[in-house]
This record gives sequence, C-alpha cells and structure tokens, in this order.
Amino acid sequence: MFTELTEGTTRILVPAQHLTKSMFYNPAMELCRDIDVASIAVFVSSLPAFSHKKYIDALAGTGVRGIRVANEVGLQVTINDRSTPAYELIKRNIMLNAIEERASACNENANVLLYRKHYDLVDIDPFGSPIPFLDAASQSVKEMLLITATDTAPLCGAHTGGLRNYGARPLNTEYHAEMGTRVLLGAATRELAQYDKAIQPLLSYASAHFIRLILKVEKGAKKADASMQRQGFIAHCFSCGHRFAFSCEDMLDMCVNNTCELCGKKIRIAGPLYIHPIKDTKFCESVHTELGKRELGKKREAMKIIHTCIHELDIPFFYEHHALCKALKIQPPSITSLIDALRSHGFSASRTQFSDTGLKTNARVNELKALVKEL
Ligand SMILES: C[S@@+](CC[C@H](N)C(=O)[O-])C[C@H]1O[C@@H](n2cnc3c(N)ncnc32)[C@H](O)[C@@H]1O
Ligand SMILES: [Zn+2]
Repeated sequence: MFTELTEGTTRILVPAQHLTKSMFYNPAMELCRDIDVASIAVFVSSLPAFSHKKYIDALAGTGVRGIRVANEVGLQVTINDRSTPAYELIKRNIMLNAIEERASACNENANVLLYRKHYDLVDIDPFGSPIPFLDAASQSVKEMLLITATDTAPLCGAHTGGLRNYGARPLNTEYHAEMGTRVLLGAATRELAQYDKAIQPLLSYASAHFIRLILKVEKGAKKADASMQRQGFIAHCFSCGHRFAFSCEDMLDMCVNNTCELCGKKIRIAGPLYIHPIKDTKFCESVHTELGKRELGKKREAMKIIHTCIHELDIPFFYEHHALCKALKIQPPSITSLIDALRSHGFSASRTQFSDTGLKTNARVNELKALVKEL
C-alpha cells in the first residue's frame, strides 16, 4: 500500500499507487519543498525564539511539507487535510519522524482552521487555484505566507478565468509565466490589504505547472496602503512587441493612449497586477547559501533557480529571444552574447528565471531589435 521515501532528511510514507498520479504526493514538487525548507529556515533565523513560531500546512496531503518544516527547520507545525485517509497518513508520518512534540495533525476544512486561529507562517498548497483559501489565509497569517497556484492557464491568460478568479486581466504574451506570477501577487496584495496587512515578496518563481510565492507579511494600514501602490498595469503591443508598465495611480490620473508609440497599432492592457520587485535579493542570497549547506535531493536545481532570481533585473516583463529573432527572420545569437552586447551599449540586461530563452532589459523593443540585427 505505502512506499517509504526520503526528502531532505525526512522520511515519508506515500501511497504507492499515487506516486505518479500525485493525488496525495507529487514527487515533482520535491524541488519546491527543498526551496521552502531553506527559505523558511532563513526567514525564521532572524526572528526571536523561532522554535515557538507556529506554521500551518493547511492542505497537506501526506503532510510532507509540514513534516519537513518541523523536522528540518524545527518549528511548531499544524498539518491539516480534510481527507480522512490523508489525515491518517499524516499521523503515521509524524510518528515515523518522531516529531510528535512539534507536530499535530488535523482533519478539518482548511478555511475553518484558518478563520479560527492566527498562525505565524501559513502555507496554502492546493490543487489548482489558491483563491478559495486566500481570504482565510490572509486573516490568519502573521509573518509569512506561502502560496502555490497550479491553475497557470487562467492566471497566464491562456484560458479565460483570470478576471473572474483573480480580478485582473492577464494577456497571453511570451512572458505569460511572469504575468501570471504578478497577477497572483496582485490578488494576494488586495486580499491582505483588507486585513490591514501588506506583502513584501521574498521569492517568487514559476515552472511549467505551478507558481510559488514566498511572502513576508507586515501589519499596518499604512503599509497596506503602500502595498496597494505597488500594483499597476502592463501595456503590450502584439504587433511590434513594445511593452511598458505603469502604476495604478497613473491609470487613474491619465487616460492611456491606446496606440503604440513605436508602430502606431493598438496596444492592449493587462492588470491590475504587481509591478514592483517580486524578490528580495539579500533574502535570496541567504537562501542560496542555506541550500548549499543542506542535504537536499534537488539541491542543484534549487540553487540554479535561486541564482537566476538573484541576478534577475527588477523589470516586470521579459523578451523571448527566439521569438524576437524569428520575427526578424534571423538566426538567434547566443543569449549570453546578446546580454553582453546590451550591457556594452549601456543597457541593463539579465536572464530570467521564468524562461531559459528569456531576457530582461531596460532597452525598448526597437533598440533590442536593432542590436540583435548587428550581432
Ligand atoms: C495539492 S494537495 C497537497 C500536497 C501537499 N501540500 C504536498 O506538498 O505534497 C492538496 C490537498 O488539499 C486537500 N484539500 C482540498 N480541499 C481542502 C479543504 N477545503 N480543506 C482541507 N484540505 C483540503 C486535498 O485532500 C489534498 O490532499
Ligand atoms: Zn507596436
């Protein structure tokens, strides 16, 4: 019935038949859990009496996330799943790791638990959209909120539902993974602001199937007001590829000219979404060091993601290097040579975690195209 695995330094029983179907346990998320363990360890290391901090894995499945946080970071954890077989398995996994003093299992609706009590760290890792749990999580959380979304199609604008579910319009651009991440950050900003709380993104990243946000939460109406100002819109021209971001204040103060200043065609607007930095560089550097010190199954991949995040420019979109060269009907130069060329022309340029073939730059698309042609 069950197979025993090891993640990090934690032993975990998972249902053998669900190993690939991921009903309870998704092996592909080990990377995400490795990054969580290092990120939570870094975050709590600066807090007084951190071993008393309360973390909740509200949608736990086998309990692997919460059990790892208790075992590998040393926090007090509540591990909850409304499914009774999952709850029974969580209890077995707690015993297997001998962490009964630090971990308790619950068999409740996550929202009921979250509305009932405040937790220092709240982790929401659902199938699909986190929206059904975001209000309760926002009310409950005191210091750190961790959110997964696997409904990347509506978030990224590939399917409808962005506006309905997230209160924002995404556009299906080449940088859709980043757009989805920023739409989710915008939704989290608005939910928390209702409780006079503000987010400070510490680390945000996306893969093909999920988006993960690790957010510091701060209390105070002024901070919440300031966080709302970090939202805005992205204007995109699907004809020439011109794109720019502007704040919500700008949107309210001016009437956006909807013709592209580069090619004269119509531009389209995405948002509201989060347009400020989506990571904290110092925090990411500490997470990188922490990952290096730990015993982790996906250490190399995790360190690569964090390394890219550290060096990624704080610009809210990127350019797909291959799409750009295809439009120009030229053979793509290497992305490194393009980044070097941009820098030697006085522009900023970096890779992006969102795509291996994406690049961020403060050059405008016409300047970028001119430079690509020269290479
Ligand atoms: C994606 S799985 C969790 C995976 C787990 N966090 C991990 O890292 O392996 C989502 C879980 O949420 C549970 N769930 C769904 N709705 C819930 C609710 N309203 N309250 C509590 N648990 C719920 C499901 O039974 C399922 O086990
Ligand atoms: Zn244009």
